[in-house]
Amino acid sequence: MQFDIKKVVRPNIEKLKPYSSAKDEFSGEARVLLDANENSLGSPLTKWYNRYPDPYQKEIKEKLAFIKKVQANQIFLGNGSDEIIDLLFRTFCEPGKDNIIICPPTYPMYEVGANINNVEIKSAPLLSDFQLNVAHIEQLVNANTKIIWLCSPNNPTGNSLDRIDIETVLNHFNGIVVVDEAYINFSKQKSFVQSLEDYPNLVVLQTLSKAWGLAGLRVGMCFASKEIVGYLNKVKPPYNISMVAQELVLKALEEVGQVNDMIQHLVEMRIALAEVIASMPHVQKVYPSDTNFLLVKIPHATKLYQYLCTKGIILRDRSSLPNCENSVRITIGNEQENTELVDAMAEWIAQTFDKA
Ligand SMILES: Cc1ncc(COP(=O)(O)O)c(C=O)c1O
Repeated sequence: MQFDIKKVVRPNIEKLKPYSSAKDEFSGEARVLLDANENSLGSPLTKWYNRYPDPYQKEIKEKLAFIKKVQANQIFLGNGSDEIIDLLFRTFCEPGKDNIIICPPTYPMYEVGANINNVEIKSAPLLSDFQLNVAHIEQLVNANTKIIWLCSPNNPTGNSLDRIDIETVLNHFNGIVVVDEAYINFSKQKSFVQSLEDYPNLVVLQTLSKAWGLAGLRVGMCFASKEIVGYLNKVKPPYNISMVAQELVLKALEEVGQVNDMIQHLVEMRIALAEVIASMPHVQKVYPSDTNFLLVKIPHATKLYQYLCTKGIILRDRSSLPNCENSVRITIGNEQENTELVDAMAEWIAQTFDKA
């Protein structure tokens, strides 16, 4: 495979002269900061958030590089992975000309991102066991295909994609292959972050929103070649990660041990909840999960979803997605939330099926 990043990036992005922030233009000791039109008196609320944050989040990247065993220049951070998804479209896909491939059912933001950016979507649905249809993906690729979006473990199905299939796609495609690993910490599968040197076209997405428990901070991570990271840096808004988020992320990264304990606890609760739900009458299937959620197939799933809403328990009805008829996606809650869910489900099952 001959991958040439310059053939994949949009020509206007290749030529783009990025915004140069005040912080980009000096080096050395900064004592009197009169360069960025900040408010030097500070805010009445706090003393220090009057300054713009580090545009490249250097301290965080140094720590992450150590934790993930990559170079700091192979890391890009976004305002959630959702921002990175959008930036990937804007960096690589020419609106009205290029196309991308998705494998539904999967995370809907790939489709939304394509539609926002006026990029054609080609679909290679997952097979009935929710694995990739590699032959179909290969058939869909044409000269204008820029990105293939893979999600492993996949949302909403919960399974990890077969590693060999992902490698086949990486080996045979001359564009960008995104492997979205938002849920990787809940799985026993090996991350693709360690494969960056093997695949110049690989982009791995991870997030602090799931295993790290920091969805409210909005910090997503992208691991890729330094060339790809360089293009994303050109396209991103200058200060896309707030100072508050950067400070808290730095603290959180000190707590890898506690986070691992929490992941273990969530996985134990997932296994226990899967067993309880699978043993309930009329439940047709609890799909195996490598994530912090379960996909559950049950007759009249939409009615179950609506009933639980009336009890203040909110699931995600996924019934309208391909191969997900009559399925709800259930996030693993805390112990009390899981108990409430099981009780309310049992109530609904008794009411609904006893009548028939
Ligand atoms: C597969 C997948 N990728 C990305 C995201 C978004 O993550 P973030 O909170 O970092 O934007 C989600 C959120 O549910 C997801 O399921």
